[in-house]
Amino acid sequence: MAAPTEAEPAAGAERAEQVRRLFGEIAPRYDLLNRLLSLRIDQRWRRRALRRLAWEEAPDAIYLDACAGTFDLALELVRRPGFAGRVVGTDFALPMLAAGGSKIRGRTVWPVCGDATRLPFPGEAFAGAVVGFGVRNLAQLETGLRECCRVLRPEGRLVVLEFTVPPGRLLRLLYMLYFEHVLPRVGRLVSGHGWAYSYLPKSVKGFPGPAGLAGVMEDAGFGDVRWELVTGGIAAIHVGTKAARPER
Ligand SMILES: C[S@@+](CC[C@H](N)C(=O)[O-])C[C@H]1O[C@@H](n2cnc3c(N)ncnc32)[C@H](O)[C@@H]1O
Repeated sequence: MAAPTEAEPAAGAERAEQVRRLFGEIAPRYDLLNRLLSLRIDQRWRRRALRRLAWEEAPDAIYLDACAGTFDLALELVRRPGFAGRVVGTDFALPMLAAGGSKIRGRTVWPVCGDATRLPFPGEAFAGAVVGFGVRNLAQLETGLRECCRVLRPEGRLVVLEFTVPPGRLLRLLYMLYFEHVLPRVGRLVSGHGWAYSYLPKSVKGFPGPAGLAGVMEDAGFGDVRWELVTGGIAAIHVGTKAARPER
């Protein structure tokens, strides 16, 4: 398999390997760059996404953070006042989990290295699931969403936080300027990585818009799929619910 060396997303298994390698390489600087490049807005979005999870209905249950990276979303959940459950944070890039290791020390977050398109968990294991900035990176989007559905309990929710392209012309222009010119330069400078931060704008532009993602969530088995745009449509929060068990 040829090792991709530039920012063009590849397809299938090759794309998955490209993504795993990319995050493995930028892992040590991932948190620093996230805060720097998002001006900390990402943390606000994470809190807002968690408000859609309805974890308060089962505060001592087990939740999944798929594509957990350095555990920001998992940590945000276990820190919620009243949350008494556990979060399993899973990612296929071991260096990302390792980079976040010190953040989850003493917390009820369990790291598991695994592929979101073949989750290493039995069906109906989780009361709810979250994916933060992960689905855009999945080489097989529908398969990953199907896996999230499989491991959820009936009536469990999946909350997806993801970048999207703002609908307004002016903001879209500024966003594209930032994404295509500022972000790759700062990313390259701080991470020392040649193409990782050029991959980001390409992956956002190549990803389905909010209605498209909602459609894939429905195809993957979720019902009652809704979404909201945040910060003028820079990001979107999608929520889908697994169907209830049929009554006998
Ligand atoms: C942009 S990071 C997001 C990390 C974290 N959720 C956050 O909010 O900062 C995307 C993560 O998705 C992971 N990822 C991508 N494809 C994956 C897959 N098929 N299975 C597991 N993890 C995957 C990457 O390794 C990376 O850590």
